[in-house]
Amino acid sequence: MKIAVVGATGLVGTEMLKVLAERNFPVDELIPVASEKSKGKEIEFKGKKYKVVTPDEAIAQKPDVALFSAGGGTSTEYAPKFAEAGITVVDNSSAWRMDPTKKLVVPEVNAHVLTAEDKIIANPNCSTIQMVVVLKPLHEKYKIKRVVVSTYQSVTGTGVKAVQQLMDERAGKEGEKAYPYTIDLNVIPQIDVFQENGYTKEEMKMIKETNKIMGDDSIRVTATTVRIPVMGGHSEAVNIEFENDFDINDVKTLLAQQSGVVVVDDPANLKYPMPKDAHGKDEVFVGRIRRDESQDNSLNLWVVADNLRKGAATNAVQIAEYLVEKGLV
Ligand SMILES: NC(=O)c1ccc[n+]([C@@H]2O[C@H](COP(=O)([O-])OP(=O)(O)OC[C@H]3O[C@@H](n4cnc5c(N)ncnc54)[C@H](OP(=O)(O)O)[C@@H]3O)[C@@H](O)[C@H]2O)c1
Repeated sequence: MKIAVVGATGLVGTEMLKVLAERNFPVDELIPVASEKSKGKEIEFKGKKYKVVTPDEAIAQKPDVALFSAGGGTSTEYAPKFAEAGITVVDNSSAWRMDPTKKLVVPEVNAHVLTAEDKIIANPNCSTIQMVVVLKPLHEKYKIKRVVVSTYQSVTGTGVKAVQQLMDERAGKEGEKAYPYTIDLNVIPQIDVFQENGYTKEEMKMIKETNKIMGDDSIRVTATTVRIPVMGGHSEAVNIEFENDFDINDVKTLLAQQSGVVVVDDPANLKYPMPKDAHGKDEVFVGRIRRDESQDNSLNLWVVADNLRKGAATNAVQIAEYLVEKGLV
């Protein structure tokens, strides 16, 4: 297959290339795409060198699939042009996620909604992806009424500029800022811009995307999203209230059986998920599994995943794998 990676020089794009190679995705020809400023730059993939091209040049080469991670503006402008040329787009930006005509997909949860007619497929927000993979088996068995989530998100979620800001601050150097405040030795309770209701856009994404992916608007979700000075992945404290009572051992079994989830839950030996351990991995790690003793039918969990892998690149590649496997591209 001919695969275009749009945003190939960015954090997610770089991870995308690694994931394509590691999972042995059937790439016969790679088309790395970035902005005009990177045109001609060489990218190595599976021992071969490829030259970066612009989005227009990529369309002319007619790839089968284009994996986009080049920001909302690029997706809004170019995804329809790729789609019109018959190229299936899997888009990492937020541009198409809430469009009712576009599918929003986490393969372990709702890959079955995909058809050959879907030419622009949206990859959800990183913090939503890792949460819904964990919610899915629990909702099927015990029916979720409400979710309260607080996130502890890695600077890698903001892109190369943010990683550089953290490194500059650690080295005591002046440099470009991705955040309005110092991030090193700090916690910033704002991810993306504020909305009229006082929530941030990231928080509203978690709420709306969860309902869309789970295919159930009755699940009530509230979120507080927070940036912390870590690199390996996003962490989330998730409180879930179910319609029905549950057995805590059954919850652990359901999670251990869920595809894409690894349970790390052994408090006696101080074992729980941490971003430094999730870094570079494709799975979602869950631990600190315990009853919320303040309320009936309620559970507390700690969920960690590498936001650049399962939160972005891996999920997009898994969507492409599903399309290939089912003959939808
Ligand atoms: N980081 C995450 O955890 C995460 C998770 C999910 C989704 N996403 C989404 O993925 C996208 C990229 O994130 P990132 O963290 O990888 O950002 P990044 O490191 O800043 O990379 C941005 C990429 O987009 C390319 N680009 C910018 N303008 C372009 C244009 N006009 N035409 C073609 N390519 C263009 C850049 O190319 P140049 O090098 O030439 O500028 C670069 O390759 C964003 O939409 C983000 O919301 C990120």
